[in-house]
Amino acid sequence: MISKDTINEIFETARIEEVIGEFVNLKRRGVNYLGLCPFHNEKTPSFTVSPAKNIYKCFGCGKAGNVVNFLMEHEHYTYVEALKYLAKKYNIEIEETEQTPEQRQVLDEKEVLYNISRFAQKHFTDNLFNTEQGKAIALTYFKERDFDINTIKKFQLGYCLKEWDDFTKAALKNAYKIETLIKSGFTINKNGKYYDRFRERVMFPIHSMSGRIVGFGGRILTSDKTKPKYVNTPESEIYHKSNVLYGIYFAKNAIRNKDNCYLVEGYTDVISLYQAGIENVVASSGTSLTNEQIRAIKRFTQNITILYDGDTAGIKASFRGINMILEQGMNVKIVLFPEGEDPDSFTRKNKNNPDNVVNFINDNSLDFIKFKTNLLLKDTKNDPIKKASLIKDIVNTISVIPDEITRSIYVKECAVLLDIQEKVLYDEIFRILKNNYYKKKKISDNAAVRLKKEKSSVDESKVYKTTDIYLHEREIIRLLLNYGKEKIYFRERTKYGVKTTTYFTADYIVRDLRENEIEFQDAVCKAIYDEYVSANENEIIPNTDYFINHNDKDIQKLSIDLLSEAYELSDNWKKKHRIYVDTELNKLKDIVLNTMLAFKSQKLKIMINEIEKKIKDIEKEETLKSTEKEEKLNILMQQLKLIQDKYSEINSGLGRVII
Ligand code: GTP
Ligand code: MN
Repeated sequence: MISKDTINEIFETARIEEVIGEFVNLKRRGVNYLGLCPFHNEKTPSFTVSPAKNIYKCFGCGKAGNVVNFLMEHEHYTYVEALKYLAKKYNIEIEETEQTPEQRQVLDEKEVLYNISRFAQKHFTDNLFNTEQGKAIALTYFKERDFDINTIKKFQLGYCLKEWDDFTKAALKNAYKIETLIKSGFTINKNGKYYDRFRERVMFPIHSMSGRIVGFGGRILTSDKTKPKYVNTPESEIYHKSNVLYGIYFAKNAIRNKDNCYLVEGYTDVISLYQAGIENVVASSGTSLTNEQIRAIKRFTQNITILYDGDTAGIKASFRGINMILEQGMNVKIVLFPEGEDPDSFTRKNKNNPDNVVNFINDNSLDFIKFKTNLLLKDTKNDPIKKASLIKDIVNTISVIPDEITRSIYVKECAVLLDIQEKVLYDEIFRILKNNYYKKKKISDNAAVRLKKEKSSVDESKVYKTTDIYLHEREIIRLLLNYGKEKIYFRERTKYGVKTTTYFTADYIVRDLRENEIEFQDAVCKAIYDEYVSANENEIIPNTDYFINHNDKDIQKLSIDLLSEAYELSDNWKKKHRIYVDTELNKLKDIVLNTMLAFKSQKLKIMINEIEKKIKDIEKEETLKSTEKEEKLNILMQQLKLIQDKYSEINSGLGRVII
């Protein structure tokens, strides 16, 4: 673990425009830098880097973050790798901290599983090349499938002998514990008898993104229909079926270079295509695609081409998975292989002419939406009811595409294919988007309530109407973050003449809210505000860096959003944002005062309602003695009066006479 001090030093030293400048061509624009966004395709630059705020933000695709986020996103580094990269760049020595025993133990357990997987791969490969059985049965099998020696070695293929427990015995002899063998799935315990899960199967090791072996697929060599064709490693601490993409380790560079990823169904499809020179290929290994798998591909490209077997019955069933890819903003193409062929068999048929394979794929790749529309149209056969449901289905798919322009292209195409007016499609898309918006909003409202419960110390019984007050709280935090260090001036007419007082915006806001004993309700806003309060006690104003680099993801996200919001408000930001920011700065005092007045007024109103409710409750209370009742009511009335005075003072605008 890298020590906190080192991390701070890295963040303090790294200059975001320098780091990003190595990957993106940046031009200076006023205080910021501007370039073409590396995360989506664009012709006019909307990717901004702000050295002052130490953040980047793309106004096209919305990607935003700090210098470490950039490296993680762009270079696919882990957090630690990104820190190490920066430390190296800026000659910062890395100080490591000790791990806790618990952390150590989890790591140790995983390490043992990685070790045994590596040991198993070596053992299986050794069986393949150096045992009579392996050579006679397994190696012959691979050769019959036209896998050449280099391919077999590259993919580290192997063989598990036709014995009950050959591998189990070998592992035990090498000091692996039986628990480890069972946990990693190599050994099965049946009524106290141990035997090899993969016996008499050829072995396909499955590599992680970084090339470590996490599991295996084992293929049967006989045509015994009573046994499964493939057996896989069961779930373990290092093998998560839903995360695995077979071949990703070998394919990742080619995927990036070709800016496309072929997705096939099986191990052998990956290997055959790779051998034929098509290296940007991965397999989902027979399962339906998961979001984790899509994200893994998305690290390297936005484009996926799915290669379907000619006889895949499950094409329609896979459409749902494809919606998930589109939802991520990726482009999907489909290639359907001739009947009876899968990519592996097709490649083998064309082994003397490997160009045929590439040409076939290129000639037959169809855009997914068109593919789906055409495929489903075949079933409707002029049946209007079927056609109506087809239109709904297609529109649903188009509506998941996040990019509006891409959506409109598909609408045009589908309108022609389906022989229907574009407007009808747009109306339906709009309806779906609207519904989704409300669904999502509800979910995020629920999430906000949950977060509040978890993080905030606010009394749960105080359930306010959330949205308005939340927007106000957000606006106060926006002012703190963007303008906390700007000064505002007050000229006050007093008995003795005109007096000028200068405040830092942050100080002004904090003092004013504390004077009125106003608390924040939203957990994330409250966390940021509290930082300003404690900084205020030490007579400092926090740097926005602190929030942008905060450990708490919610704080980090909100502060980045708010620090870039001023730009987002103007539509043609290139021309206008400077003007907008300038005007906001010029009018800062007005903005702060108005916002604070509105905020305080709303907060005080809520407090008034609460006290009034308490008063009513006590009046209704029958078990209380009348003296006690009176005493309590008295206190509440006094509180009420104080707050009401403040409230009317604020609302009549009699606060301060401001010139
Ligand atoms: P070959 O028949 O050796 O060419 O394999 P294939 O990859 O063409 O197999 P198929 O198209 O039948 O299946 C595609 C993928 O689904 C395989 O690579 C496996 O990952 C998976 N799969 C197939 N059969 C089974 C099975 O019986 N059990 C499990 N768990 N997975 C299977
Ligand atoms: Mn096959």
